[in-house]
Amino acid sequence: DVPQLLDKFGRVAKDLRVSITEKCSLRCTYCMPEEGLPAIPADELLSATEIVRLVTIAVRQLGVEEVRFTGGEPLMRRDLEEIIAGCAEAVPGTPLSMTTNAVGLQHRAAALAKAGLGRINVSLDSVDRAQFAQLTRRDRLQSVLAGITAARAAGLTPIKVNAVLMPQTIDGAVDLLQWCHDAGVELRFIEEMPLDADHEWARDNMITAERLLGVLGEHFELVEVGRDDPSSPAEAWTVDGGPGTVGIIASVTRSFCSDCDRTRLTADGRVRSCLFSDQEIDLRDSLRNGASDDDIAMAWRGAMWNKWAGHGINVDGFTPPERSMGAIGG
Ligand code: GTP
Ligand code: 5AD
Ligand code: SF4
Repeated sequence: DVPQLLDKFGRVAKDLRVSITEKCSLRCTYCMPEEGLPAIPADELLSATEIVRLVTIAVRQLGVEEVRFTGGEPLMRRDLEEIIAGCAEAVPGTPLSMTTNAVGLQHRAAALAKAGLGRINVSLDSVDRAQFAQLTRRDRLQSVLAGITAARAAGLTPIKVNAVLMPQTIDGAVDLLQWCHDAGVELRFIEEMPLDADHEWARDNMITAERLLGVLGEHFELVEVGRDDPSSPAEAWTVDGGPGTVGIIASVTRSFCSDCDRTRLTADGRVRSCLFSDQEIDLRDSLRNGASDDDIAMAWRGAMWNKWAGHGINVDGFTPPERSMGAIGG
């Protein structure tokens, strides 16, 4: 038996999220600044080989059961196929997934599936071209929709769509849900968290789960079915009698930190125990200085042991972390 990645509160991290770049093809206002994030110098990014080694240690020595690639936008890395293929070969049987905006995915979905990627979650906030362009600051809706079609054809399923609702997109929520149903993908709405690079998040602007349910409830019959598994961030409701569902990830108003099962790696090779914690433990330099797998595993365990109880967004005096979402990977 593999010793687990445990924290002081008794939580076990089984879900590894690996950010592989801070670059992105879009500029969603709740995530990225207009000009993008400062580029990480190439030699500070983990290489494909280093990522594969860390993923292997996580699975073989730390009990990680599932690996998700995030960014920034993972498709911005040309060696994404190589990273996936390397992991699929090193830890066969471990589910590999990716959270992506799907821009350009059309041309890579088949190769990614062949490399060993299992499924994808696509970030898509609106199916209205003008709304999409305003929110993402890029007119790329068609590319995203083509990416979803190609992913389905390549078998990267089940596909989930993530939508962070903002005041400007709330009136598109019904159309988005209808579109997802017609396309056979599961939609999950996400409450905006204070992780935008511009630090403009304000509680009063946030579309809460409650508000969203009110809006959707005018058009659909919704029945709460709860979480499919306790550590899933999304709670589900059936739509018009099912079988289709809609999910809500209410990270702020119904936070799920006490059931958190995540550990994260940043693109520059640090372990991050929580989305919101700036306490990071560097593994990259250890790797490059010849640390053994056991040394790395021990450092990783130490980082997770010190994970705090939760994000504290609802606590007085909360301050957002230094890294914005684009640099942590959601
Ligand atoms: P599935 O395994 O498909 O359910 O993936 P997931 O929902 O865990 O991953 P995804 O990358 O699709 O995450 C969806 C959204 O949930 C993210 O964009 C975040 O907004 C939110 N989220 C994911 N992980 C965490 C977390 O650990 N804490 C909090 N507070 N929010 C999270
Ligand atoms: N709050 C909640 N979710 C966010 N995402 C990006 N920024 C935020 C935020 N401030 C989501 C994206 C994507 C995932 C990687 O993170 O929509 O689905
Ligand atoms: Fe886990 Fe931190 Fe997310 Fe809470 S905010 S669910 S502790 S990663």
